[in-house]
Amino acid sequence: MSIDEPILVRPDKSHIPAIAAFRKEFADSLDWLHGARGLRYMEDPSEWLDYSARLEDGLDGAPPYTQFVFVRPSSGKILGMLGVQHAPDGPVESWGGHVGYCVCPSERRKGYAEAMLREALPYCRSIGLRRVLLTAGDENVGSVRTILKNGGVFEGYYISPKHGREIGRYWIDLN
Ligand SMILES: CC(C)(COP(=O)(O)OP(=O)(O)OC[C@H]1O[C@@H](n2cnc3c(N)ncnc32)[C@H](O)[C@@H]1OP(=O)(O)O)[C@@H](O)C(=O)NCCC(=O)NCCS
Repeated sequence: MSIDEPILVRPDKSHIPAIAAFRKEFADSLDWLHGARGLRYMEDPSEWLDYSARLEDGLDGAPPYTQFVFVRPSSGKILGMLGVQHAPDGPVESWGGHVGYCVCPSERRKGYAEAMLREALPYCRSIGLRRVLLTAGDENVGSVRTILKNGGVFEGYYISPKHGREIGRYWIDLN
């Protein structure tokens, strides 16, 4: 592994400046902070870290949600974020799948989304998932390619309750 190979880790206090910088890059597009649950609404990274910890404990009876950040070791820059919803038997119809992610605008088209999702799959297996659901609209070519390059198989479309339009469903088999 090269010194600058990004690593997928849980966010902690050492990432506070990088979290702020990451969010700033999305300033005009906060609703595209997929896989960074709550960050859209929280300017204060400390508040978001607390919130992420509570999500992992299963906030309000919801299945646990684990937050990751994809960090470049040499600079500490957060290149992307990814979240995993623990729900082996859960109601996956009504939400956006087991894994969500985003890459900061200045670091796109460098293979980081593909790498980040690949890194997350062993974790998904470790929490008992045998297959992982991902969802993406056809217009989101980057996300669809990311899923397909990680072995995702298209199942069909569903109407997203959030967006009121067709979104593709893809499964990655972890067996
Ligand atoms: C979708 C997103 C995560 C892709 O991140 P990325 O790091 O640029 O993706 P990668 O560099 O790993 O590219 C993966 C594949 O998608 C392709 N791709 C990425 N962005 C693309 C774009 N805008 N148009 C066409 N293809 C694209 C890449 O070329 C690559 O495919 P290839 O190897 O066959 O050429 C990023 O654009 C993003 O954060 N978007 C906003 C959040 C989002 O949409 N998340 C997914 C929710 S469903």
